[in-house]
Amino acid sequence: MEPAGTTVTTTAAAAYPRKILDYMEGFLVSKTLFTACELGVFDLLASSQHPLSLEEVALGIRASQDGTERLLAACTGLDLLNTQTLDGQVMYSNTEQSSVYLTQSSPVSLTQSIHYSSKTIYLCWHYLTDAVREGSNQYEKAFGVKSEDLFEALYRSEEEMVKFMQLMNSIWNICGRDVVTAFNLSPFTTIYDLGGCSGALAKQCVLAYPECTVTIFDLPKVVKTSREHFVTNDNQRVSFHEGDFFKDALPDADLYILARILHDWTDVRSIELLTKVYRACRPARSPVIQVSIQRPSMSDGFLR
Ligand SMILES: C[S@@+](CC[C@H](N)C(=O)[O-])C[C@H]1O[C@@H](n2cnc3c(N)ncnc32)[C@H](O)[C@@H]1O
Repeated sequence: MEPAGTTVTTTAAAAYPRKILDYMEGFLVSKTLFTACELGVFDLLASSQHPLSLEEVALGIRASQDGTERLLAACTGLDLLNTQTLDGQVMYSNTEQSSVYLTQSSPVSLTQSIHYSSKTIYLCWHYLTDAVREGSNQYEKAFGVKSEDLFEALYRSEEEMVKFMQLMNSIWNICGRDVVTAFNLSPFTTIYDLGGCSGALAKQCVLAYPECTVTIFDLPKVVKTSREHFVTNDNQRVSFHEGDFFKDALPDADLYILARILHDWTDVRSIELLTKVYRACRPARSPVIQVSIQRPSMSDGFLR
């Protein structure tokens, strides 16, 4: 007779826990990608005219041969690298996607985002259990920064602010044009991008619509950093407005964009902001675009 509690009746669907195993080990995949990027594996392979051997990669990234071999095998298994055998020796090269998205020199590189995920977001998620228990962000445990205000923590130094802004930039370089052309925005010539950050979406807007001007409305220190690092004087139709969208009046516009803004705030704060935008809208003229490019089921609830 089986001891009580050991009999498990399974349906065919529950017989193999594929999803659970994938979720359980998902972080191994992320860490493999982070490590390969941090060590410069994809940059090294991109800079070479021909596929490289294990010895050449290990030398190039200044890492142990054993560790490099395991990392390259994992990347090959994840379809991030191609292998071929030449004269009995395994040679490694980038896949097409790795060349395009995982090399620093690519105009649509995701490497800055990957570094941010590895060095910042990953650490915060380490404390997710505490965050859920306490109902507050865990920046103090992760980075020694005590802050109720998410952006005070994110912008804890100029260097960190630039990194965050690079993170914001990178996705618009990939999908910004698709987002701004999903609807015909040509009737709107005076556009305000509320919380416009580094101006990457603003740049996509002015590229797609030659008649429009876009003003980035953001906190003063963000505007300063954006001017210094991201928006040059060549971008004549992109300008700035320093302000706090909770405290300051919103200027007149034909169109307000709120891209990846509402997920940062509680429902109460979001309603406060949306009400303010609604009141600023010219009757029957100024629509609001709210852009969210997160998967709602996953990270939305955890950002505040
Ligand atoms: C998650 S980022 C989104 C940036 C940009 N819209 C994008 O999609 O790349 C949120 C932005 O809101 C800005 N922000 C936060 N609090 C703000 C406030 N009170 N007033 C104005 N901007 C604010 C931040 O500085 C940051 O640029």
